[in-house]
Amino acid sequence: MFPERFSNLPAYAFPRLRALLDHLEPGGPVMHMTIGEPKHVFPQWVTDVISEHAAGFNQYPANDGTPELLDAISAWIKRRYNVGIASAQIMALNGTREGLYNAAMALCPETKNGAQPIILTPNPFYQVYAVAAASVGAEARFVPATEASGHLPDFTALGADVLDRVAIAYVCSPANPQGAVADAAYWRDLITLAEKHDFKIFADECYSEIYRDTPPVGALQVATEMGADPERVLIFHSLSKRSNLPGLRSGFVAGGPESIRRIRQLRAYSGAPLPLPLQRAAEKVWADEAHVEENRRLYAEKFTLADEILGDVPGYMSPQAGFFLWLPVDNGETAAVKLWTETGVRVLPGAYLSRDAEGYNPGERFIRVALVAPKTEVQDGLKKLRACLYG
Ligand SMILES: Cc1ncc(COP(=O)(O)O)c(C=O)c1O
Repeated sequence: MFPERFSNLPAYAFPRLRALLDHLEPGGPVMHMTIGEPKHVFPQWVTDVISEHAAGFNQYPANDGTPELLDAISAWIKRRYNVGIASAQIMALNGTREGLYNAAMALCPETKNGAQPIILTPNPFYQVYAVAAASVGAEARFVPATEASGHLPDFTALGADVLDRVAIAYVCSPANPQGAVADAAYWRDLITLAEKHDFKIFADECYSEIYRDTPPVGALQVATEMGADPERVLIFHSLSKRSNLPGLRSGFVAGGPESIRRIRQLRAYSGAPLPLPLQRAAEKVWADEAHVEENRRLYAEKFTLADEILGDVPGYMSPQAGFFLWLPVDNGETAAVKLWTETGVRVLPGAYLSRDAEGYNPGERFIRVALVAPKTEVQDGLKKLRACLYG
């Protein structure tokens, strides 16, 4: 016997890409521009901190996060968003992916206004949002995040019948894959809507530190300025992109005291806390901004490159933040196959990040290109891509 609720899940994006491309010969030296795995160096002292605290591998780690790590995160939130938040309102995560999933397990009610709850997700989106909805028995509602809505989902356009059933709305800002950033007005409108219809906002802000000039405003910052219910917004952050440490598996969720209490309680039973030496390293990494500035500078150079190489392609969007290009093509799969077989450059068809909803798939006519490799490689890859797909 197997559960039905995951039967309709499409294969994950990367196995799907392998099935599309791996039986075909690459047309040149292989260049990966698919996965958003940061490649810039992380601070070299991270490994020293881990070694210094290696004895901690002998202990079960603090489930909620060590007091020192929670203090370092709280200080970062204060510096970054000017929001004072007690460490009891922060939970250390093993990377944001599991947190985005487990927070729904802890906080999604069984019913909302007497009906099956709805979880809103942008479309295209980071795939864990849909699996979280399936796991808690909620209906996932995929809301287009396209050019027409500034590449962010317009939840305010949904009817009251839908909104009254909404338990959780996921928003990704800066957005993967489009690189769009929610401004204060976007957050204000959404928070007002959430107050009216009594749902929570899960703000996936893991790309918040990779921006061009202006630091993106945060959801918790706006909610605090508005004096919204403190349980309304949870923010999710990570060292994966900010500090080039996707393998450290360190992030956090912060929000209202009752939400965090419930997340902590569930995780006391079923969570996988970060090993103690890694919590020590994470604590130091949150406290340092010098490496983050250097990281941003390297991405800024690649954004400039992308603008130079692709700027005149019709429909090209220069990303405001994050590290992806979301490029218009006639068909994402056809373009990925052509690029692979003619040049060896590997990109992701947009439809692997989106779902059919309301009669169409908003990712179908896009490819996602990750700008994570060193600058010269990115330059080479983008030039080949330009010549192959856009002439
Ligand atoms: C939008 C988005 N959210 C969350 C994550 C998860 O990152 P991590 O678990 O490494 O913090 C990713 C990773 O690619 C992402 O793109």
